[in-house]
Amino acid sequence: MRSDSTNDAKLVSDTYGRVAAKYADAFVDELAAKPLDRALLEWFAADVRARGNLAVADLGTGSGQVARFLHDRGLRALGIDLSPGMIAQARLRHPGVEFAVGDVLRLEARDGAFAGLTAFYSIVHLTRIELPLAFAEARRVLAPGGGLLLAWHVGDDILRPQDFLGEPCSLSWNFFSTAGVVSAVEEAGLDAEVRIERTPYATEHPSTRGYMLARRA
Ligand SMILES: C[S@@+](CC[C@H](N)C(=O)[O-])C[C@H]1O[C@@H](n2cnc3c(N)ncnc32)[C@H](O)[C@@H]1O
Repeated sequence: MRSDSTNDAKLVSDTYGRVAAKYADAFVDELAAKPLDRALLEWFAADVRARGNLAVADLGTGSGQVARFLHDRGLRALGIDLSPGMIAQARLRHPGVEFAVGDVLRLEARDGAFAGLTAFYSIVHLTRIELPLAFAEARRVLAPGGGLLLAWHVGDDILRPQDFLGEPCSLSWNFFSTAGVVSAVEEAGLDAEVRIERTPYATEHPSTRGYMLARRA
């Protein structure tokens, strides 16, 4: 069993702050080459629209492409990220979409505020201990019946690259097994309704990709 690798919030924020513009250049248009991500986000948007409340949040939004995709499908999307530098880039790249600095472990939102949540690769810097805490916070801000759509790197690896987009880096990237994510989701009181794995696209880091729709009853 691997040991946990903790990432301090300031380290995450500072690291992404240093690479924010380069990160946005690399990823802001990535959904164009990710058909399964687009299909799942279309389905998620339809699921939210069918329930009437259009407020959704994209947690760990980075350069904001997922928040933008949901905004363009008629949802009231708020992109949230720990890094003020990433939020500045998201605002620059997506005028008209709402973004705010915030932490997935302690969201500044009332209970039941959102009809749906997305979190694409934003659990990658959380430990296995933090995972159920982040999901419990997601459950708190989800309205009954709302879903959290997750994407993550599947596996047991912990990557510690010394370079991140040309900048020195001491962050770790934590992969999680699908069984581990199911267990953390269930510990937080959500139902792991949909679980999907796919092989990586040629343009991606060569890791298996996991997706889950975790729903609040
Ligand atoms: C790998 S990037 C993914 C960004 C975007 N979702 C995407 O798919 O390109 C991880 C993002 O999560 C953010 N993040 C990490 N820990 C966070 C936390 N505790 N609260 C909010 N954002 C966090 C980072 O600042 C970074 O922008």
